[in-house]
Amino acid sequence: MKVDVILGLQWGDEGKGKIVDALAPEYDIIARFQGGPNAGHTIMFNERKFVLHSVPSGIFRKNILNVIGNGVVLDPFLFCKEIDEISGAGFNPSDNLIISQNAHLIMPTHRLLDAVNEAAMGDRKIGSTLKGIGPTYTDKYNRTGLRTGTLLTDRFVQEYELRKAVHFKLIQQSGIPFEHIQLDGMPFKEYEQEWLKAAERLKQFSICATEIVVNKALAEGKKVLAEGAQGTLLDVDFGSYPFVTSSNTSTGGVCTGLGIAPGKIGKVFGIFKAYCTRVGNGPFPTELFNDMGELIRKNGHEFGATTGRPRRTGWLDLPALRYSVMLNGITDLIMTKADVLSGIETLQVCDTYTCGNQKHLYPELPVGIEPGTNFAEMTGWKEDLTRISNAELFPSAFSAYFQYIEQEVGVKISYISTGPERNQLIKM
Ligand code: GDP
Ligand code: IMO
Ligand code: MG
Repeated sequence: MKVDVILGLQWGDEGKGKIVDALAPEYDIIARFQGGPNAGHTIMFNERKFVLHSVPSGIFRKNILNVIGNGVVLDPFLFCKEIDEISGAGFNPSDNLIISQNAHLIMPTHRLLDAVNEAAMGDRKIGSTLKGIGPTYTDKYNRTGLRTGTLLTDRFVQEYELRKAVHFKLIQQSGIPFEHIQLDGMPFKEYEQEWLKAAERLKQFSICATEIVVNKALAEGKKVLAEGAQGTLLDVDFGSYPFVTSSNTSTGGVCTGLGIAPGKIGKVFGIFKAYCTRVGNGPFPTELFNDMGELIRKNGHEFGATTGRPRRTGWLDLPALRYSVMLNGITDLIMTKADVLSGIETLQVCDTYTCGNQKHLYPELPVGIEPGTNFAEMTGWKEDLTRISNAELFPSAFSAYFQYIEQEVGVKISYISTGPERNQLIKM
């Protein structure tokens, strides 16, 4: 069997959680391969809403094994908080969730370092979620990180203290005041106690060589779905560096983040919103600064699922989408949130970028050059898409909108999401 992949093609928040939860019954295993609690994946069913940060989006389905892979960075405190919410709602996450022994732990001092690094950058700051993602991956690649498996040894506290001391030296050297920084509303010492308790609780879960579990499952004919976090345009290599996250959010990340050979990758589902959003700083060529941007933010409830920050909004960006489709080897597209555009008379879609006199289908511009944008105008639709249950009932203007995208990008749309609920999903 092969591993199918679901990932975001824009700057995150494309609706990955919703789609993974909806498609989960077709799989035996759902596995996260990168990122950490910077993610916020919203799932809605039976009028209930959950926002998952570290736990894979298959957790609400019985008989599905959820895997936190080696490529993920895990904060025990935030993870346990999430587990308590899920348990409190009547689910038993400890029954069907395993954690890679090679996944790196986000320490309280990683979060302090994140805050201090951002403060040191002033106006040039990334706009991080401040969950400690960058400093934890820095330690991973510096070979000074603390892995989940160390929890199972008697050296854990010693290893923790060693790294904490190094981190505090770095924090003090930065000269940035840090004593006032609160972590989840607590001063450092108090938070650290809670974090250590949570680290102890982590041992209740199976902490193991998940790469072996996943490969054995594939050999037995089980179906595996890899769930991406963030989006392709936030990839540390291919995104708008330095305004990116610290992991490979694109398909390549599945191989290193789960221990899957490239030949074992099957379908790659690429999710995109019918428009664009971005939270945090960095370039956004089609950004809207007018009433239309505000309308999309309001109608789409575009506020961060992790930080609550208002998301920046803009028209669909085809050069960026073509690039993401190419990088990920997308076999199937999934479009979300077109229902948000209902009632807008004329829609715009950026079809090409301009640099000098040249038009570009891809973002192939020299570093630091902001592209000009060219827009195709499309007629909007008035109908409410959220109640439509069959693709044949789509208004013709909406069909023209998504067919134009398929034609420009060269890949078919397999599913269209027409609302946040699990069952608002139409197979094409
Ligand atoms: P993720 O990070 O990719 O999982 O996406 P988020 O959960 O951060 O943001 C997507 C938001 O859009 C959530 O509030 C979802 O409940 C919501 N959503 C997902 N799909 C649709 C859709 O097709 N239409 C509408 N209106 N909302 C959607
Ligand atoms: P999901 O999985 C949207 C953004 C942050 C910031 C940059 C770096 O819900 O789509 P980091 O915390 O990684 O240091 O932040 O990346 N960012 C996201 N934006 N959705 C996400 O995840 C994000 N995770 C990180 O806003 O600009
Ligand atoms: Mg999100």
